[in-house]
Amino acid sequence: MCGIVGYIGSREAYPIIIEGLKRLEYRGYDSAGIALFDGKDLKIAKTKGKVSDLEACVEKETSKTGNVGMGHTRWATHGVPNDVNSHPHASNSGDLAIIHNGIIENYDALKKELTSRGYTFKSDTDTEVLINLIEDVKKKENVKLGKAVQIALNQVIGAYAIAVYDKNKPEEVVIARLGSPLAVGIGEDEFFIASDASPFIEYTKNAIYLEDEEMAIIRLGKAIKIRKIKDDSLVDPYIQELQINLEQIEKGGYDHFMLKEIHEQPRAIRDTYRGRLLRDEAIIKMAGVEDNMKKFLNADRIIIVACGTSWHAGLVAEYIFEEFARIPVEVEYASEFRYRNPIITEKDVLIAISQSGETADTLAAIKLAKSKGAFVFGVCNVVGSSIARETHAGAYTHAGPEIGVASTKAFTTQITVLTLIALRLARAKGTMSSSDFRLHLHELELIPQKVEQLLQVDQHVKEIAKEYLLSTNCLYLGRGYNFPVALEGALKLKEISYIHAEGYPAAEMKHGPIALIDDRMPVIVIAPSKGHYEKVVSNIQEIKSRKGKIIAVVTEGDTAVRDIADHVIEIPDSEEAFSPLLTTIPLQLLSYHIAVMRNCNVDQPRNLAKSVTVE
Ligand code: AGP
Ligand code: GLU
Repeated sequence: MCGIVGYIGSREAYPIIIEGLKRLEYRGYDSAGIALFDGKDLKIAKTKGKVSDLEACVEKETSKTGNVGMGHTRWATHGVPNDVNSHPHASNSGDLAIIHNGIIENYDALKKELTSRGYTFKSDTDTEVLINLIEDVKKKENVKLGKAVQIALNQVIGAYAIAVYDKNKPEEVVIARLGSPLAVGIGEDEFFIASDASPFIEYTKNAIYLEDEEMAIIRLGKAIKIRKIKDDSLVDPYIQELQINLEQIEKGGYDHFMLKEIHEQPRAIRDTYRGRLLRDEAIIKMAGVEDNMKKFLNADRIIIVACGTSWHAGLVAEYIFEEFARIPVEVEYASEFRYRNPIITEKDVLIAISQSGETADTLAAIKLAKSKGAFVFGVCNVVGSSIARETHAGAYTHAGPEIGVASTKAFTTQITVLTLIALRLARAKGTMSSSDFRLHLHELELIPQKVEQLLQVDQHVKEIAKEYLLSTNCLYLGRGYNFPVALEGALKLKEISYIHAEGYPAAEMKHGPIALIDDRMPVIVIAPSKGHYEKVVSNIQEIKSRKGKIIAVVTEGDTAVRDIADHVIEIPDSEEAFSPLLTTIPLQLLSYHIAVMRNCNVDQPRNLAKSVTVE
């Protein structure tokens, strides 16, 4: 994710863009930049850091004049956060400039082709490839900017919300959208462009939201014309009058960042496998894995180190790696691992999982493993974070910034990355047939739409939450792949509603926790149809016979559990290994609604920080 802002009209563009970027920093904040056109020259200033650092950079390096401009606050996907990789990016000629939110999946092939035609690149970004592709088309086809953008985008695979500017045509801006949001504010002979309406809501409430595969050429003094990128057909613009305020926009209309991020999971999972899961070609493409394939294939074992929710993702990965790739896996709390004087050899592969990429215990565990010769691979959500820089290689989750302290989309995107790695290794080791591999690719690709469908249980879960918001204890039970989900569900409830909760392997209940069961104890049981179902049903009956209150997460169409549980939440059917990506959703929603009903600070729970950078 990132934030894009543009302005064309009679006002000074600089203050509008800078203030707009500040309002969009929740979408990405590792670097920022601005391009201004003062009637003579296109001036670009950009820097690593926050928008406030950009303001200082502009003060020092350039002027603020100009009635046309665009700005970007970045959440890097390709190229670490630094000055050069920041947006806007200019074309080789310096005539064109672009800001971009999204991922160009085929940037590598495009970059090679453009390089062969003499183009050079200053940055490591996919975005700089796009602006030079547009320039190349414009020159070769001898067409105007709008047509060049359209032709270029038809060669692009990926997601984008872009604004493109040609300093030789200062009265127009070309915009286009596929997969990333893009809003246009329609003023009195002025236009605003932004990732959401927050930068322009005080200037105009009239907005157009581009749909996927649409583009527009915005010209001063002219009505906006929207076209389909594919065939150039005109689209009637739908101008809506916005009735929302700034705070609602930042949270996407949700009451809290956590709820917004729960609902972002379909997009986040899709963005995480975008460009990596190539179903038609039946391949998984992950440079960090390909370049180190021998390390993985020759590993005696994989050690996973992480903390909190990331540790739970590691536990899910243990089941997946051992099932698919038949590689022994050990999952360690980073804080324990680093002080235990563990036995580590050069034949070990250590995978460190961290949303923030800054967790002190995980960072220390990595350094310990490296000092003993292990190969260390990172799974992080923040490009260029300390852990990402400390590991030998890695793969990013493209979840976008996670603002809520309670990790949600980080968990499901971490599992997605780890699943891709396990599938890739299974193919390389031959422990999975090509037909099974294709099946799993197809099933994994279906997960985002299943999560989308599953999010419709929100109201039903909210009704259940009402009955248990005064509970003082909760037990979460799961088996196999869903034992870690039971732990994760309990952590979610604990950390945002302050109700004590424990996750347990369902079979372990009779070794102690069953003593806790009474008619005041809600027990959340994860009981999908695939995964020791009959055993879990027996556990539910044991709870029932002790008057426990049962909230069961079951596969849609289940009847056996429905007859004995107090509440049933249905999830779509899926491969057993992928069920955690679904079963976790109702548990996230349950903890969210209970916390809200208990008037807890959902996004910033007491005593907690988003990133634990201290021991
Ligand atoms: C989970 O909801 C918490 N926010 C916390 O347990 C978190 O997962 C843990 O601190 C690890 O953070 P990291 O993924 O950024 O390393
Ligand atoms: N892929 C582009 C980059 O890494 C844009 C990332 C974003 O959406 O912020 O610069």
